[in-house]
Amino acid sequence: MPDASATESMLTETRRFAPPADFAAQAHVKSMAEYEKLHARSIAEPEAFWSEVANELHWFKPWDAVLEWNLPDAKWFVGAQTNLCYNCIDRQIDAGLGDKVAIVWEGEAVGPDGPEILRLTYADLLERVSRFANVLKSKGVKKGDVVTIYMGMVPELAVAMLACARIGAVHSIIFGGFSAQAIRDRVEDGKSKLLVTCDGSWRRGKVVPLKANVDEALAMTDRVKDVIVFNRCGVAGTDQAPMVAGRDHDWATLVDGADPTCPAEPMDSEDLLFILYTSGSTGKPKGIMHTTGGYMVHTYMTSKLTFDLKADDPDELYWCTADLGWITGHSYIIYGLLPNRCATLMFEGGPNHPAPDRFWDIVERHKVTKFYTAPTAIRAFMKWGDEHPERHDLSSLKVLGTVGEPINPEAWVWYHETIGGGRCPIVDTWWQTETGGHMLTPLPGATTTTPGSCCRPMLGIDMAVVNSDGEEVPHNTGGILVCRKPWPGMLRGIYGDRERFVETYWSKVPGMYCPADGARIDPDGNFWITGRIDDVIVVAGHNLGTMEVESALVSHPAVAEAAVVGFPHDVKGTGVAAFVITQGELPEPGSDAAEQMKKDLVAHCGKELGPIAKPDQVRLTTALPKTRSGKIMRRLLRDIAAGNEITSDVSTLEDKGIVEKLQEG
Ligand code: PRX
Repeated sequence: MPDASATESMLTETRRFAPPADFAAQAHVKSMAEYEKLHARSIAEPEAFWSEVANELHWFKPWDAVLEWNLPDAKWFVGAQTNLCYNCIDRQIDAGLGDKVAIVWEGEAVGPDGPEILRLTYADLLERVSRFANVLKSKGVKKGDVVTIYMGMVPELAVAMLACARIGAVHSIIFGGFSAQAIRDRVEDGKSKLLVTCDGSWRRGKVVPLKANVDEALAMTDRVKDVIVFNRCGVAGTDQAPMVAGRDHDWATLVDGADPTCPAEPMDSEDLLFILYTSGSTGKPKGIMHTTGGYMVHTYMTSKLTFDLKADDPDELYWCTADLGWITGHSYIIYGLLPNRCATLMFEGGPNHPAPDRFWDIVERHKVTKFYTAPTAIRAFMKWGDEHPERHDLSSLKVLGTVGEPINPEAWVWYHETIGGGRCPIVDTWWQTETGGHMLTPLPGATTTTPGSCCRPMLGIDMAVVNSDGEEVPHNTGGILVCRKPWPGMLRGIYGDRERFVETYWSKVPGMYCPADGARIDPDGNFWITGRIDDVIVVAGHNLGTMEVESALVSHPAVAEAAVVGFPHDVKGTGVAAFVITQGELPEPGSDAAEQMKKDLVAHCGKELGPIAKPDQVRLTTALPKTRSGKIMRRLLRDIAAGNEITSDVSTLEDKGIVEKLQEG
């Protein structure tokens, strides 16, 4: 049996991808040497570094101090006043760019004349946002009030969030895939009196009944006094989405009657900008709080550097496929992008409607230059087949990003070759709802990437891998990922729960922010995420990242997707259990073909990673239990693997029948 370090070194991918020379030559950061110099300086002189970035943006009043740090409480740009909406819109108009396109929006349905497309300039956006800001004011919304937003991916969602930022209201956006209970819980937690919604949203040609979900939620709380309904699907006011007299108001009517000018409210840098609840797979959702100035500076700089955004390139068109209801949408569709003066694309629908090439069709028609999506989506594209991207001209693409989970090297290489034509740097960005913006990522003109690694800390970010005493562990040794210094985009707390904030993030490693991810750093200095801390399993005394076993499994041609968890094992302490979605047809449970496939997969893991990583259980399946936000419910898999009664809360599961199938698997 190999020792831990030998196992770890086997886990290291050896392929390297250097940025193309012509790309690097014109990038913001052009080489590793330049990155290292900038990074070292940003850590040594954080206040000078961050104030230089902040000075690229608009402030009504400058700061007295860059940072006030009383662990775990940070205040950034203390005493300064700014407005994020002003920096997203007015600052561009002030610079004479009112006619430049800010948001390109495409609807889901494809009619005989193609899809519905809307191009909003900064001037258009200013008028729409100002009108809606005045609507909010007319309904009594004041600075500091929480406005709940539950909409589909329509431009009005961006307008609503920017309008809140403009008048200093705190938005709490709920992803349109959530249920009535989630709406009720968030409304109550935020003590929100006003809710903005749509009659419905389009998803794969069907109407998702958003308004009906709101009605169901509001039957469980009397907190909300006003509901503003945007009529997207033409069913507002019908039996499908009846309007409640006195409570529900039609968006268009209110907006038509509103004043088109509304000055941006000067906000204190530390005024609350938004609350966003993290996915519910780990108990009661946490309302993560982000404030104004620091979040603005962090998302502005990371958008610019990670995607190498070029404000003066008229062809620059960035597309992040996330929903605005997630942090990725908040930071990297709107708040980080608009201040960079780059057009940002919003797409209403799903990736395979009306056909599995919809994303590539959009890239080709709009000539998207920077593209940001999730590994789960990439693996789905791989499964659907190369013919879909191959039908399209994807030559406009320059940088490809991924986020949300580790990307397995096979998916990375496919993305690089099939979507990026072998020419686009890939930025695998590690961060969290809590961090506000990117923390670990390659810089596309500087970093030589290794598939599966999110590479290096962002400028100004001091990440390390440590033991529980906060001491750095040697290269290629698994440990706890931490951030050792405060950063501007960091969460300022969990709404209404100080104790949980301190306990969750600041108590595991003394003096450091702990995101609860395991990681290691390879001898090149690249970071590898090994999974959530509770997903790192110790097998026969050796650390093993469940994500790495999953990568090994997915590299087998018979495997489409895999999830690995630990379970109690008599001899090894913890055994390895693998849940595998097969490529093509699932063999009959218990058949020779099924048993042979399981044996092949065990041998394959042994070959790829060493004997320690051989699964003790393999279950073949057609689907994995996922929450609506797409995260695999690992607690549930652990219960199944252990043969336990199911104790996990399965209410957020998309397909409830899956549990039984997996138990049989
Ligand atoms: O475990 C890490 C994983 O997603 C977690 C954060 O989830 P959430 O707050 O929903 O934010 C997702 C979008 C930023 C992290 O603690 N994660 C995120 N990005 C990566 C990742 N794991 C590996 N590689 C990534 N690039």
